[in-house]
This record gives sequence, structure tokens and C-alpha cells, in this order.
Amino acid sequence: MTDTKKSIHGEWSSRLAFILAATGSAVGLGNIWKFPYITGENGGGAFVLVYLLCIAFIGIPIMIAETMLGRRGRQSPINTMETLAAEAEADTNWHYVGWMGVIAGFLILSYYSVIAGWASAYVLKAFTGSFSGTGATEIKALFDGFVANPAQLIFWHTLFMLATMLIVARGVRSGLEKAVQFLMPGLFVLMILLVGYAMTTGAYEQGLEFLFSPDFSKITGDSVLTAMGHAFFTLSLGMGAIMVYGSYLPKDVSITKTVFLIAGSDTIVALLAGIAIFPIVFANGLEAGSGPGLIFQTLPIAFGNMSGGWLFGILFFVMLVFAALTSSISLIEPAVTWLVENRDLDRQQACIWAGLVTWLLGLGTVFSFNLWSDFTIFGRNIFQLMDYLTANLLLPIGGFLVAVFAGWIMKQQHSEQELQIPGTQGYQVWKFLVCYVSPAAVFLVFLNVVGVI
Ligand code: PHE
Repeated sequence: MTDTKKSIHGEWSSRLAFILAATGSAVGLGNIWKFPYITGENGGGAFVLVYLLCIAFIGIPIMIAETMLGRRGRQSPINTMETLAAEAEADTNWHYVGWMGVIAGFLILSYYSVIAGWASAYVLKAFTGSFSGTGATEIKALFDGFVANPAQLIFWHTLFMLATMLIVARGVRSGLEKAVQFLMPGLFVLMILLVGYAMTTGAYEQGLEFLFSPDFSKITGDSVLTAMGHAFFTLSLGMGAIMVYGSYLPKDVSITKTVFLIAGSDTIVALLAGIAIFPIVFANGLEAGSGPGLIFQTLPIAFGNMSGGWLFGILFFVMLVFAALTSSISLIEPAVTWLVENRDLDRQQACIWAGLVTWLLGLGTVFSFNLWSDFTIFGRNIFQLMDYLTANLLLPIGGFLVAVFAGWIMKQQHSEQELQIPGTQGYQVWKFLVCYVSPAAVFLVFLNVVGVI
């Protein structure tokens, strides 16, 4: 491994390009769709607090570790882990961490694309004025009718997968960098606007209280696992997405500063989404724990009733689709890079195969909202199973292994060299967190869930 090694897949043009792409990966449906609904399902404040602690003590140190491994390895996560294990004179079985990530990426994207399809369909609904002047009941009926129709869901899922694969096929530099530049500020402005609407609902304080005053009696071992799993999910950790983006990062960029910026923006977007949504939930007598349909049953009420809501509704769902796109391309990138490196395919062919597999898997999620809604394994339908398996198991396990590798297996001199902060207090803190705090926390949460502690 030399300092001058570059990825065969290309390199970001600058630090800003990496920040934009990694923020694009992090900010997505996880922040705007998933965070509010799981917060609602898990009782609010205490869940949010656990989530924030997990971001700080598990997410950020592991994000630094994963970016660092990527930049040092400069290949697909599978080959990166293998090369770095060899460099550390450790067992090359570490490359299974990469494999787990590739599998997690497929599974996540399979349902992610279906939900992003919902958001795409809602662009059209916003455009045709379906929300205007409507109340909570009509909006809920609209949503229920929509997800009951498999043909519609398949159509939008297909469209979203096609868009994702087209962007990925064009490669690292051309597609990604530009989209995110407009997207992030735009999304931010619209979230603020929605918070503005939430203030007028009369239930703003109730919403804030739900989000920020913790009631620990509402929290269970499973909700702690969900909060921790979501910290991984929302920061795109534990499956190689950030590792592969790190592999395109130029040598001289400070990883730590960059990671703080990305994790900070990601958290702010999620909190804004919560602040916008819960007042609407309470003002309209809706159920906070109503599940994956939550944003589709609340935000349209806002758009249907605020002035300029038609335009803002369209803009919001367009941005949500873009935010989902910049995440979905990172979900499939580890698999595509591996296919190019090891299966002698070109990028286009790799995209076709990876896209096809994901699309097929996605049908399971499509049907779990209609035809197969009664089909459950361990009490979960296919969508819930995919979500649980990835966010609550594969990502935390992947992240745990990344932390252990960066903290215990990789030679100290190498991590110091990559992080460019050798011997400083910052380095010591990071090292302590990845060696002890993050892996121990993940381990304890697992022990608790299986009932050992
Ligand atoms: N972080 C993305 C989101 O919040 C989802 C994601 C998970 C992307 C894992 C890449 C890897 O929507």
C-alpha cells in the first residue's frame, strides 16, 4: 500500500465533492421518512435521546474509521478489507465484512427503492393537486388506496431503480457531485418552511415535547436496538457505502473534520423532519405510531392547507426523491465496484446485474403492503423483515467489525498516518472510542436484546 495509490474507479475532485456525496448518501429517506415514524413507534423523547447518544459515541467514531479504511484500501469494500488485513498481517477472512456489506446494500436498496417510489408517486399527486384543501381523513384514504395497488407500486419502484442504475452506470464523478450541491440547501429550506407551518398548527409545543422530553418508561431493549440501528442506517455505516466513498477521497483531506460536518448535517435534517411532522400529527388527532406511512399521511395536510402549498408540495417530494437517489447510489456502489474488480464486467454490465437483483427483491416489499400483507415470518412481513435484518442486525454487526478492525487490528502507525492527527488528544479520544466504547455499546445492546443482560 503506497500513499499515492488511487482507486481505479476514479477520485473525487475535491474535499467538497466528498462532503457532498457522503452527505448525499447519509441524508435520505432515513432522515425524513424513517426517523419520524420510528420515533413515533418508540414513544418519542427517550428514543430520540438514545439515538443522539448513538450518533455521538458509536456513529461518528465508526464513520471516521470506515472512511479511513476506505481511503487506505482504495478498492471495493471486500477487496479493501482483504488488502488492509494483509497489510496488518491479520487473517484475510476480514473480507467477509465487505461481503456482509454488499448483501446489506442489496437488501436495503430493495425496500428503499419501493419507498422512494412512493415519494416519486407523491410528486405527481402533489402536481395534480390531490392534497389541496383536504383533511387528515382524505389524505389517509389516498395513501391507503395507493399502497393497496401493487401495479402502481411496481411501476414507481421500477422507475426509481432505473434512475439509480443510470446514475451509477455513469460513474463516480459525473452524476453524483452536481446533484447534491442544489439538493441539500433546497431540502434544508423546505424543512424550515414546514417547521414554520408546524408552528401554526396549535400543537407545536406538544410536538416538541413529544420529541424532546424523554420518558424512559417508554423505552425497551428493542427500542434501544432500533435507535442504535438507525444511527448506523442514517449515517450509511456498517455496509461499505462510506468505505467506498472514502476510497475516492484525495489523500490530503482531513477525515475527522469532514465526518463531523456530515454527521452534524444529517442529524439536523432528521430533527427538523421530526419537528415539522409531530405537530401535524397531534393537531389532526393522528397516531404517532402509525408506521411507514407517517410522512405520507401528515405532510400532504400541510401542503394542502398552507399558502403556496401546491408548489412547495411538488418541490418537497422532488427533493425527497433526489435525496433518496443520492443515498441509493451509495447502497449499490460497493456491489458494483466489486463486480468490476473481480468479475471482469464493465460498469454498465455490473449495474444491470446489480439492478436486476435488487428490483426482484423489491417485489417482496411491494407485496407486503397488499397481496402478501398477511404473510409474516417471526411476526414481520417482508418489508419489516428486510428492515430489521439490515438496520438492526447487519449494519450494527458490520460497524462493530469496522471498529474492531480500525482499533485493534490495523497498525496504530497506519491509522495515525491516515487521520493525520497522530498523538493528539483528538486521536486518543477517537482511538479510545473505536477500541472500547463503540464496540462495547453495540455488544451490550445485542446482549440485552437476546435477554442475557
Ligand atoms: N443513510 C441513508 C438514509 O438515511 C440510507 C443508507 C443506509 C444509505 C446505508 C447507504 C447505506 O436514507
